[in-house]
Amino acid sequence: MRIDIITVSPELIKSPFEHSIIKRAIDKNLVEVHFHDLRKYALNKYGKIDDYQFGGGAGMVLMIEPIDKCITALKSEREYDEVIYMTPDAKTLNQKTANKLSLSKNIIILCGHYKGVDQRVRDLLITKEISIGDYVLSGGELGAAVLCDSIIRLIPGVLGDETSALTDSFQDNLLSPPVYTRPSNYKDLEVPEILLSGNFPEIEKWRTKKALERTKKIRPDLLED
Ligand code: ADE
Repeated sequence: MRIDIITVSPELIKSPFEHSIIKRAIDKNLVEVHFHDLRKYALNKYGKIDDYQFGGGAGMVLMIEPIDKCITALKSEREYDEVIYMTPDAKTLNQKTANKLSLSKNIIILCGHYKGVDQRVRDLLITKEISIGDYVLSGGELGAAVLCDSIIRLIPGVLGDETSALTDSFQDNLLSPPVYTRPSNYKDLEVPEILLSGNFPEIEKWRTKKALERTKKIRPDLLED
């Protein structure tokens, strides 16, 4: 899989790709991530990429021309499954979307900034818009990093134990059940006996029951789907 990220702050987004599971996925060539500085496609030598909005109002808007040039250059090299725009005014990212996107071959992610992008970018160049939650960030970079992490960990071979992504919270619309490790007794807090029993069918039943209880209590909306 190849991910091309278009941003006005490449340095802001690079760090999450330089550690842990995501770094290992890149080192193992399971995913390629490329960062593109939008200013390289600026309109003039001063790096102009944004302007005031027509009709007045606070905040600068990213112009269509640099973005179009950048996306067109990428598209001339390969086909893309999706051109994604990170923005708070979109449907919220969930596990189903991450699962679907993890099957892509090539995707472009455009990070918004300032007051957003010219609407014509969204009409003409974007195939999918994603928000990471109902709050406003300073830009799309952190959202793009979250999206990439959620996708990359699902690529076969990225996680050591193939089943561990399948048993994540949300994979079956349930939150994960509680987990425990040694010691089995800490300050009189006991690990549930069933988990020490070695009876794996019963352990599975217990886990499903606990996952359901937790989901009902914390995220009942998930059970309505
Ligand atoms: N850019 C600003 N806020 C955002 C959000 N909530 N999700 C994705 N991109 C954003």
